Amino acid sequence: MTALSLTNLRAGYDRDLPIVKGVSFTVNKGEAVCILGPNGAGKSSMIKAVAGQVPCFGGQVRLGEADVTGLSSHELVRKGMGFVPQTENIFTRLTILENLQIAAQLLPRPDRAARIAAMFDMFPDLGARPRELAGALSGGQRQMLAAARALLTEPPVLMLDEPSAGLSPKLVGQVFDTLRRISEAGVTLVLVEQNVRAALALTSRALVLVDGQLAHDGPTSALHDGNLLGELFLGHRSVEASA
Ligand SMILES: Nc1ncnc2c1ncn2[C@@H]1O[C@H](COP(=O)(O)OP(=O)(O)O)[C@@H](O)[C@H]1O
Ligand SMILES: [Mg+2]
Repeated sequence: MTALSLTNLRAGYDRDLPIVKGVSFTVNKGEAVCILGPNGAGKSSMIKAVAGQVPCFGGQVRLGEADVTGLSSHELVRKGMGFVPQTENIFTRLTILENLQIAAQLLPRPDRAARIAAMFDMFPDLGARPRELAGALSGGQRQMLAAARALLTEPPVLMLDEPSAGLSPKLVGQVFDTLRRISEAGVTLVLVEQNVRAALALTSRALVLVDGQLAHDGPTSALHDGNLLGELFLGHRSVEASA
């Protein structure tokens, strides 16, 4: 069963200069997929276009069976798309609890407290200090709060843009342990990562984006051979989609 699919998606900031130049792939329910690629390849632009934060110029995005192309980010959250952007993903001047309460406003009022409690169960580090300012948290805790905000509405699909960026190796481990638990809970994961080693350990399939187009789509096992990845990143070789 399909969780998310892109068909010939074109997107960017200027219609005459698309950054995402016709990308197609399908992610099955429960799958964990990573999106790799050099800096400037268009990974963030693509994931933001899917999440309703960058204009789509052509093609289609489907969430499950529904065509969600060009919907606003709010409408997409309501339809079950969770997105954790790379930056500005929490309100630093509000407390942990307030950050979750804002995200909970999308839920029916009677459900809110229970979902916040569920997030505190899932992220005990956050549950231990609900009144602490989000701006006072460590980098890893901030990423967990950002993930908790996105997971509060129980989205079937969660997309994250470089959740390990700027974190120490220990915190990267914590964030990936959390992502593994989220994946094991059945959430479909789409993860943009620069930390190739961590990403390949978590996900079963890798897409490589080079200059706004897919250069590779296949099982992560094929990419443990660093040569192929290097060639793909440097653009010397293009592999037919194989998944
Ligand atoms: N807000 C923006 N306005 C215009 N161009 C942008 C914007 N954000 C990114 N770009 C351009 O889009 C291209 C792809 O960037 P990005 O999607 O951030 O790539 P990646 O995430 O793979 O590093 C780059 O050339 C970048 O300069
Ligand atoms: Mg990026």
